[in-house]
Amino acid sequence: MAKVFITRSVPGRPVDLLEQAGHQVEVWPGELPPSRDVLANRLESAAALLTMVTDGIDADLMAAAPGLRIIANMAVGYDNVSPSDANEAGIWLTNTPGVLAETTADLAFALLMDAARNLTASDRDTRAGGWKTWSPTAFLGQDVYRATLGIVGLGEIGEAMARRARGFSMRILYASRTRKPAVESNLGLEWRSFEEVLVSSDFVSLHVPLTPETRHLISHRELALMKPGAILVNTTRGAVVDQDALVASLRSGHLGGAALDVTDPEPLPLDHPLFALPNAVITPHIGSASLATRAKMAEMAALNIIEVLAGRIPLNPVNEPSKPRTA
Ligand code: NAP
Ligand code: GLV
Repeated sequence: MAKVFITRSVPGRPVDLLEQAGHQVEVWPGELPPSRDVLANRLESAAALLTMVTDGIDADLMAAAPGLRIIANMAVGYDNVSPSDANEAGIWLTNTPGVLAETTADLAFALLMDAARNLTASDRDTRAGGWKTWSPTAFLGQDVYRATLGIVGLGEIGEAMARRARGFSMRILYASRTRKPAVESNLGLEWRSFEEVLVSSDFVSLHVPLTPETRHLISHRELALMKPGAILVNTTRGAVVDQDALVASLRSGHLGGAALDVTDPEPLPLDHPLFALPNAVITPHIGSASLATRAKMAEMAALNIIEVLAGRIPLNPVNEPSKPRTA
């Protein structure tokens, strides 16, 4: 029986699927991720790892895991594991595309609406007794209807975000590595340079993966290019934004607001200046957090493991080891 280590209790039927395929499964019972020492210990004898964005799996851990054949990340982003290190070690790395874009775009659009119309800020104020009367001037926000949305990174989630924006008659600009004429004509998008998107948008929503090229893609220069009062939505990875620059721009009042599902680091320490800013909304990395979607993600990761442990190519590889490890 091959051993599979799952780094947290997850929804859905991944354990059943793996056990039915004849594998021995251990699920880390902690609410917090296993420490590096625990991971190293479990990986000594594991053939497969079902892991998440909170677990950094580096070359040293891979080297200490002689029997490990697959790292199945329960996420579409895989910046917590280096595909080239996995290649080198002969280990498959897989992710979960195709199942979470709509759920994550729902959250991104909800964050946009929240920041535009002060939902969290006014709720907080109401609970604290701030609602004395109907006020002609309290919590004046920005219209979303017919505003301009700039999408940076037009992949699965960026496109799903554009579909939502269409329902609000928004003008939609996008910048991405590759132009997508079919999506443009289907959804009425306008392709622009990254800078033009920043300059012309009322809302900018980030959907690029975190890579060496996109780390701090949004910093002082880019924030200064954004329209005064514009709102930044980040549901990709915290490090795509230079957070010190973001704090400075929010404090100065240049940026109207930021709605963040991801921060750098995660979790953000409670004394972080972002928490003191009334124009920042912060959620705890819950983009894909619907029960149905998280179950699909976990089951997809399990199916990738089953394929590799049966000697086949996984369903959702993000690397291609030239000499995959065998049993
Ligand atoms: P995807 O389908 O791979 O789309 C990413 C898009 O970004 C692609 O279209 C890609 O290139 C574009 N891109 C990559 N590098 C770029 C660059 N340097 N400049 C401009 N565009 C670039 O991925 P996805 O499913 O939409 O997910 C995007 C990210 O969202 C994930 O990597 C993950 O970090 C994050 N995420 C977060 C949550 C959450 O819970 N908050 C949930 C899911 C995903 P092309 O233009 O060439 O296509
Ligand atoms: C979550 O953050 C993901 O990348 O799926």
